[in-house]
Amino acid sequence: MRLQGKRAVVTGGSQGIGLAIAAAFVGEGAEVCLIGRDAQKLHDARKQLGSDAVETVSADLATPAGSDKVSDEIAGSDRPVDILVNNAGVAFLVPFDTVTQEQFDQSFSLNVSAMFFLTQRLLPAFAPSGASVINISSYFAGKMIPKRPSSLYSLSKGAVNSLTKSLAFELGPRGIRVNAIAPGTVDTPMRRKSVDNRPEAAKAELQAYVERSYPLGRIGRPDDLAGIAVYLASDEAAWTTGGIFAVDGGYTAG
Ligand SMILES: NC(=O)c1ccc[n+]([C@@H]2O[C@H](COP(=O)([O-])OP(=O)(O)OC[C@H]3O[C@@H](n4cnc5c(N)ncnc54)[C@H](OP(=O)(O)O)[C@@H]3O)[C@@H](O)[C@H]2O)c1
Repeated sequence: MRLQGKRAVVTGGSQGIGLAIAAAFVGEGAEVCLIGRDAQKLHDARKQLGSDAVETVSADLATPAGSDKVSDEIAGSDRPVDILVNNAGVAFLVPFDTVTQEQFDQSFSLNVSAMFFLTQRLLPAFAPSGASVINISSYFAGKMIPKRPSSLYSLSKGAVNSLTKSLAFELGPRGIRVNAIAPGTVDTPMRRKSVDNRPEAAKAELQAYVERSYPLGRIGRPDDLAGIAVYLASDEAAWTTGGIFAVDGGYTAG
């Protein structure tokens, strides 16, 4: 058990990548707190994880009130936090000339501000022996894809990478490690939402593109991100900070 006795917070832990990471943490002996907006989804996720070691907080992290609620509930318990996974995110893959102010604000509120301020507000709750912060970035921070306009999403994930490095630098002396995982395309509800409503021909074209572009020949499954998250959360990564780890089936190697 590589995370025995540790307490983790996973934002966006009710489905997709966050849920897979939470499941791996529980499997390695951690207590996990899942954050999301929809209480029913959190309830289902908790049931799926089937463990007494799972708690949930329902809050909209895209709002300051939501971030306050989460940090108050977590810091209010007497158990310190060892691991924070800033995973909740939103992706508007829309052409630059159609991006609305609302989409821009929503993206930055969740992908950037929530990561920034939740980490800041949880600092007093971090274990005195040190903590691991894991930010979920994206290959879109630095790699653009034909027919997937990503100015807004790429900008927000570029900010995630930048924040990861600056916080690693600033918080390292306090024993807080900060790393990011940059997944390639992963089969989650987020991805399905952006693909399922495409015409069949476009879906086939996308599938052919995936097979051509991913050296490992497929997109990711949420579980593909779990191993590296467990590693970064564990004491095995005691000297690892400020890293942006590509986990993308080799997509960005080309
Ligand atoms: N899937 C991909 O291909 C891919 C690739 C690269 C990077 N990523 C990144 O990986 C992370 C997870 O993606 P995913 O595909 O697993 O996403 P997902 O399937 O859409 O799941 C998102 C999770 O975040 C929660 N969430 C969304 N908005 C929230 C808010 N305002 N406040 C609190 N919780 C919120 C959702 O629960 P509620 O809806 O109940 O709030 C859900 O648990 C994101 O940061 C994404 O940018 C994904």
